[in-house]
Amino acid sequence: MNRKVIVFQVVFVFLSFFSLNAAKQLIHIECSDISLILRQEDNLKISIVYFGNKFEGTDALLTKSYQRRPDNEEEFSPALYPAYGGRYYMEPVLKVSLPNGVETCDFIIDSIVQPHAGSTGISRTVLILKDKKYPLKVDVVLDAYTAENVITQKIKVRNYFAAPIVLERFYASYMPVFADQYFLTQFNGTWANEMQCNEILLTQGTRVIESKKGVRTTQSENPSFMLSLDTEAQPDRGEIILGSLAWSGNYKINFELDEFNSLNILAGINPYASSYKLESMKSFTTPQMIWTYSNTGYGRASRNLHDWARNYVLRNGNQVGKVVLNSWEGAYFSFDEKTIKNMIDNAAEMGVETFVLDDGWFGNDYPRNSDRQGLGDWQVNKKKLPKGIDDLAAYAVSKGLKFGIWIEPEMVNPQSNLAKEKPEWIVKSPGREITTLRNQWVLDLTNPDVQDFVSGVFKNTVSLSSDISYIKWDANRYIESFGSSYLPEDKQSHFWIEYVHGLYSVYERIVKAFPDIEIQLCASGGGRLEYGALPFHNEFWASDNTDPFTRIFIQYATNIIYPPKATASHVSISPNHQTGNSSSIKFRFDVAMMGRLGLELQPEDLTEKELGFLKTSIKKYKELRHITHLGDWFPLKSPYASDKYTATQFVTKDKSEALFFSYSLDYHGRTWMPNFVLQGLDPNKTYKVTEINVLDKYYFWGTTKTFTGAYLMKVGVNLNLLLRGESCVLHLQEQPTPVF
Ligand code: GLA
Repeated sequence: MNRKVIVFQVVFVFLSFFSLNAAKQLIHIECSDISLILRQEDNLKISIVYFGNKFEGTDALLTKSYQRRPDNEEEFSPALYPAYGGRYYMEPVLKVSLPNGVETCDFIIDSIVQPHAGSTGISRTVLILKDKKYPLKVDVVLDAYTAENVITQKIKVRNYFAAPIVLERFYASYMPVFADQYFLTQFNGTWANEMQCNEILLTQGTRVIESKKGVRTTQSENPSFMLSLDTEAQPDRGEIILGSLAWSGNYKINFELDEFNSLNILAGINPYASSYKLESMKSFTTPQMIWTYSNTGYGRASRNLHDWARNYVLRNGNQVGKVVLNSWEGAYFSFDEKTIKNMIDNAAEMGVETFVLDDGWFGNDYPRNSDRQGLGDWQVNKKKLPKGIDDLAAYAVSKGLKFGIWIEPEMVNPQSNLAKEKPEWIVKSPGREITTLRNQWVLDLTNPDVQDFVSGVFKNTVSLSSDISYIKWDANRYIESFGSSYLPEDKQSHFWIEYVHGLYSVYERIVKAFPDIEIQLCASGGGRLEYGALPFHNEFWASDNTDPFTRIFIQYATNIIYPPKATASHVSISPNHQTGNSSSIKFRFDVAMMGRLGLELQPEDLTEKELGFLKTSIKKYKELRHITHLGDWFPLKSPYASDKYTATQFVTKDKSEALFFSYSLDYHGRTWMPNFVLQGLDPNKTYKVTEINVLDKYYFWGTTKTFTGAYLMKVGVNLNLLLRGESCVLHLQEQPTPVF
């Protein structure tokens, strides 16, 4: 996962090598509250016997039996690593063709390496499996993140044959689940409508979450899921498993509900068109699959992932993010030096901290005045910006702002010098037409020269000014009709995987060389939002949709898996450019404030009233953002619920402060005032509740009054929210206990 962290955190100082006699034994993969328990069987196979909350008396799992079928002669329990062959009839975790024509595998345990529990924040367990007969080994690598209650798994396949083997399935993780009913939430959508919660009841058969798009793989479906056992998913009750795959290429998550009503989940790289020739004495490592569990609803499981992402994934995960003004919706491709300097002046006046110059700043022979040309020619456009980027960046810094800039280095317009000079760098199938999407082609990142070029674009752009401290990295199409001029003929099917390895090698170089440059992840909005790319970024752009009425759905679903502090959320102009909806500046701000707040507009288009509101509210936000960025996220009421109210709360780790957000998404007619019961507070503390971001009226009758945590978590707050587009934000502050 987070390569930098894993390297130093996983300390194999105190190792236990389990003795491998044929006796049954339990292997505990433990976090502070949850555990995954494996069992070594008499026949040296490894089973998964438990995944859930920790409990006393696990020894009984040694003898737990799964056997019921009279036609099975020997004990048969859910395997840790059900490869093709043997008793398994499902989609296999591994399918490999061996050089001798054998198509099956039969793995038993070879050795187990486990650190003494609690020696670091992460305990790594490695189970080395070997084929009973042939020279093939598999390492199952399990990392337990103790405090965060997250367990990750990856696989390393090692070929000890003297000849290559061919991998046809290579999942990262298998998880058997047992319940009466399985409610699966997928996060699918489309451009400007990414990450929508879509819950279904699984029935016998296979349901698949996958991408075959190579790049921008998460725009229509995210490699994450929420599985609720026995009842529909609730924020604060019920058993939930959250899973997410850390991979920036084609992925596949397979849910196979079998004839015994047990659910078999497999997650990993999509084997689609990707058979992989593994040479003799070489290994193949899968990405990591991330698991967490809660028996008190998905809010808890999401908080586990947020903590884990802040501590181990994101760059500067435990620092608050700055307020950005991005030029895209305010200027698109039409700007010059004056436009940008005016924007910077206005941004400074509003209290913005970073100015980001988006697309349109480069290309001379093919000036980037639209998305039709210029991509690939990363030289400053002399006509628009004759004094260069340094002049703008220095200007921003002189106004107290940081300066950032947009790049899309993996792509090229046919209308560019790069496309004409380096045709062999373009992804294409020989003799076939190269399809365009957003008027662009993809560069072949399997090629080391292209990797050098792409990291060079980053380096050269940063060196345009010593005042650049932020890069927005975009990727605006997916791959079609693939083919690589670099890969040999017998390894063309490695393309989908090697593209991602190429991308990661570029990312690694960049973050090493530029530890202080902030990087935003973007791919036409949320097209590359997954835990494989996130370790190289500080934040992500969740969607090009900035309309609060629709974005609130995107943000809610996004934050079930990914942390709000990294969810860049921008206030834009009304009516909204994507949807045409109108909304008040307060409603737009209140929605954006739940993530990493920014602006994406031409400040000159704001009314005096809007400008005044933004100034005051940005100031307040800066005082309070530690609550949303570093605190705990409590989803109180999902926007996907039918009554068209939604509410979310954030509480600091020490429970001394909280922010409560609620929104009316429709007109409610004559009805009682909606009531929201709060969560996560200390029942014994007293909190002063203050309504903030007030524009024309107050929505809470009790502003600045004090209430006990117990009251707020039993009775709650009722708010005068009636109309579509009304919202209320409350700040809760612990009051000192009176000393008598
Ligand atoms: C993508 C991004 C936008 C913007 C444009 C620029 O669509 O998602 O935010 O940067 O590209 O072309």
